[in-house]
Amino acid sequence: MLVGGLLCALAVATWWAVAGALGGRWGDDHYRKLWERVHPEEVKKPLTPMTLEKPVITEYRYHDHNNLSTKNRSNATDNKKKDVKKGFLVHSPEVMKELCARIVDDEMRFDCHPQNGASEEECVKRGCCWKATDNPYAPYCFYPPQYETYQFINSTENKHGMTVYYSRSCDTGYPDQFNVARIDFNYLSNDILQIKISDAEHKRFEPPYPEVPTVYSSISEVKYRVNVDSSAVGFKVIRNADNVTIWDAQNTGGFILADKFLQLSAVLPTNYTYGIGEKQASFLNDMNWKTHTLFNNDQPPGENIHLYGSHPFYLGLETNGNSHGVLLLNSNAMDIALQPTPAITYRAIGGILNFFIFLGPSPEDVIAQYMEIIGKPFMPPYWALGFHLCKYNYGSLNVTRHVWQKNRDAGIPFDVQWNDLDYMSKGNDFTYDTEAFAGLPEFVKTVHEAGMHYVILIDPGVSASENPGEYPPFDLGLEMNVFVKNSTDMPFVGKVWNRVSTVWPDFTHPNASEYWKELMSDFHRKVNYDGAWIDMNEPSNFLSGSMYGECSPENLPYKPQTVSEEGLKHKTMCMDAKHFAGSHFDVHNMYAISEAVATHAALVEIRGKRPLTISRGSSPGMGHYAGHWSGDVFSQWHDLKASIPQLLSFSLFGIPLMGSDICGFIGDTTPELCKRWMQLGAFYPFSRNHNSDTSKPQDPVSLGPIVVEASKRALRMRYRLLPYYYTLFWRAHTDATTVARPLFFEFPNDKRVYNIDTQFLIGEHIMISAILDEGANTTNAFYPGPNPWYDLNTGKQLALNSWKAINDEEMVAVKGGAILPLQDPPAKGPVTTSNTRSLPIQLLLVPDTAGVARGELYWDDGDSLNSYEEEKYSHIIFKLKENELTSFIQWWGYGVPAVDTIKVLVQNLIKTVTVNNVSSSFTYDKPTKVLKIDVNINLDKPFTVKWTNKVTQKI
Ligand code: GLC
Repeated sequence: MLVGGLLCALAVATWWAVAGALGGRWGDDHYRKLWERVHPEEVKKPLTPMTLEKPVITEYRYHDHNNLSTKNRSNATDNKKKDVKKGFLVHSPEVMKELCARIVDDEMRFDCHPQNGASEEECVKRGCCWKATDNPYAPYCFYPPQYETYQFINSTENKHGMTVYYSRSCDTGYPDQFNVARIDFNYLSNDILQIKISDAEHKRFEPPYPEVPTVYSSISEVKYRVNVDSSAVGFKVIRNADNVTIWDAQNTGGFILADKFLQLSAVLPTNYTYGIGEKQASFLNDMNWKTHTLFNNDQPPGENIHLYGSHPFYLGLETNGNSHGVLLLNSNAMDIALQPTPAITYRAIGGILNFFIFLGPSPEDVIAQYMEIIGKPFMPPYWALGFHLCKYNYGSLNVTRHVWQKNRDAGIPFDVQWNDLDYMSKGNDFTYDTEAFAGLPEFVKTVHEAGMHYVILIDPGVSASENPGEYPPFDLGLEMNVFVKNSTDMPFVGKVWNRVSTVWPDFTHPNASEYWKELMSDFHRKVNYDGAWIDMNEPSNFLSGSMYGECSPENLPYKPQTVSEEGLKHKTMCMDAKHFAGSHFDVHNMYAISEAVATHAALVEIRGKRPLTISRGSSPGMGHYAGHWSGDVFSQWHDLKASIPQLLSFSLFGIPLMGSDICGFIGDTTPELCKRWMQLGAFYPFSRNHNSDTSKPQDPVSLGPIVVEASKRALRMRYRLLPYYYTLFWRAHTDATTVARPLFFEFPNDKRVYNIDTQFLIGEHIMISAILDEGANTTNAFYPGPNPWYDLNTGKQLALNSWKAINDEEMVAVKGGAILPLQDPPAKGPVTTSNTRSLPIQLLLVPDTAGVARGELYWDDGDSLNSYEEEKYSHIIFKLKENELTSFIQWWGYGVPAVDTIKVLVQNLIKTVTVNNVSSSFTYDKPTKVLKIDVNINLDKPFTVKWTNKVTQKI
């Protein structure tokens, strides 16, 4: 498949000068013969060194002027058009010998033959080095140190950035290389650098989602600089504050820009990277030659296979505690290879290389900067933070109702009942089975009357085989011309759950949002659902390609590593299927987000309330419209554990409303596994128990009293914490902070936490450490310092800066320094968010070692659109210092329940307490060291609570 051709040149004379002097492994006969065979045209030529003017090496910083400055490699300003073969040099075996010998460490090898079947001959043809190694992962075929695919032409710089042109200097063997490459370094803000690498002569595909803003904050003190060296290919990005090179993409690996192969490698300043997904793996990336394929795929999660979403984003944690992030905004299929150099290689098979570098320096800063580009998370309704229950194949409304009722009756805190595919008639969207689900509208009314909500499954595929006039989704779609088309401009037909055949709305079509809204609202008039579960939107197809005819050949010079032998069309559409925004080849990874945009907008209009959309497929920007669950996980202990790295990765990806199917989806769970999974899953930001059609029922009640008790206990704790969770979601929505977060986000300087992914934080103050092993009754949890951690149940100190074995009653810890707003769910009867959120608030004060603590509460009606934007909310900050708690009202625009209890974890006996300067009664429990003050404080006015100690020395 590869076109043989001219080798890539090295353009620096000094390399040549040393070449002859060296002997050794690369100079042997074998290599010369091989070289002569693959480069017969070069054998006779005299080998003359190429000369180059003195290199222009420039470090570009922000200059406070508007003048353009231009640096040319030569005086010819339009040498962009020069013959790409000029200046071409093929290295002799002697030069190659010397060059290749420079790569001593296996870790410095960048794979020059990532396709299967590398051979020495193929390798040398590419101008690369071939050398066997004992390392089972390192490539035999690797790039020489300076693989000069492009030569610098000129650069232009102004206040907002710099543009550099390069001309192609050789043929890498990949068809249709860009003859002139353009790199725009755009200084978007002090912390965000965009590096856009494109074809200067032809416009190429760029994803319409996410909509990247064009206006950025003003530039004052840019935190980075870019280094471009005219004698080298590529660039470096350096952080000004500490001169750390965040990205060294200068003469690194093979910089290749071809129509279907865009490759760039960069050496990283750290081995600690997180993100790149969707994948099932530990949270800390394995840098030992691991390649991750990104191409949305309906695939039950497992290691080393591409899953439902594509997020080419990573966060790099440097060992001094600083961090940075990098996004490749490209929707094509790609591989991202990590190696222990440490280094990263991107291999995208289309589009352009549009990178965004986020300078941090804190991990939370990186994520906030990333969200500036892809959009901040949507604000979920309060009820969406309650517990959700679902199963594929309840099979009837009677069963659905029975499960709903019995879990409510058992006192399981429970907010949202879902129905899967089986509610539909013949698997068709926007219908319901009027026999098995007769009475569904009335049931939804009952659910609403109980203060609960109802969510339905919507698949994107629309049946194409109903009788004309009998199925509006198909008829209307044809009329509005919204279906994805095949290469002959007919609707593209495949098959999903529908009986015979399926067509798919093209959500990038201008009519599609209207079409979708029409269908959703029509069905909403029949069944008053509250949220949409958008599944199968990778998009998944039970056929690999079309029902009618073959797909055009994919002709890929590089097939991403874990893509099936069938090619990209495996379980999806043909790559030549047509969407308004481009070919399926280009837009595949954005199908889910385009559906989420339309679904979210439709729900807003239909219900006039805050929507809940949960999507299986995803890509950057999804969190602005929808939450996510990790798909068809197995009911196994392995998947229970894997759910934490999954959750944390999606925090990095800007999708905080995330969780896995509690108790597992595929296969039968066991009471023990389900108990542990309920204990963990109760604290996922999105907490839903769901399983497959063929698995045994696994709602808590169906699994018996042990699971019921554990679920009640864990979920009551979650509901108690909901004011805190909700405030965190508001912060995520407004400031792009995370909800579930890894320990290193709060302790970036503590190396001991860098690879912990069995525990996670909720916000700054709460840590969840669940039991994840079969047969275990305790788990070993780490409690980073410098402040102690306390059991949220009892107030008992758990540990400080150490590991500790804890039991399942101690799995929720609160850190010294916290003030938590809490709400106890009702003691009796069914528990929902609606009956909990009207009850009084308690404040729990947990002073740090200096006696200081801080917390906040965001509150609104939980359901209206734009409550924050329209200022219909209240926001109160609480501060504790020197035995005095004070509230600060940041905004008062919506009533908040009064505070009825204040609890303080204090080491000293208490003498007096005053509330707003009036003395108050209190109790102090010596064993637990909890001061309890019963109060009745309305939060609309600032208040103070003070206490004095009885004795100065600690008890
Ligand atoms: C997919 C979903 C799963 C759902 C099933 C039937 O496999 O991932 O959650 O139950 O389809 O709709």
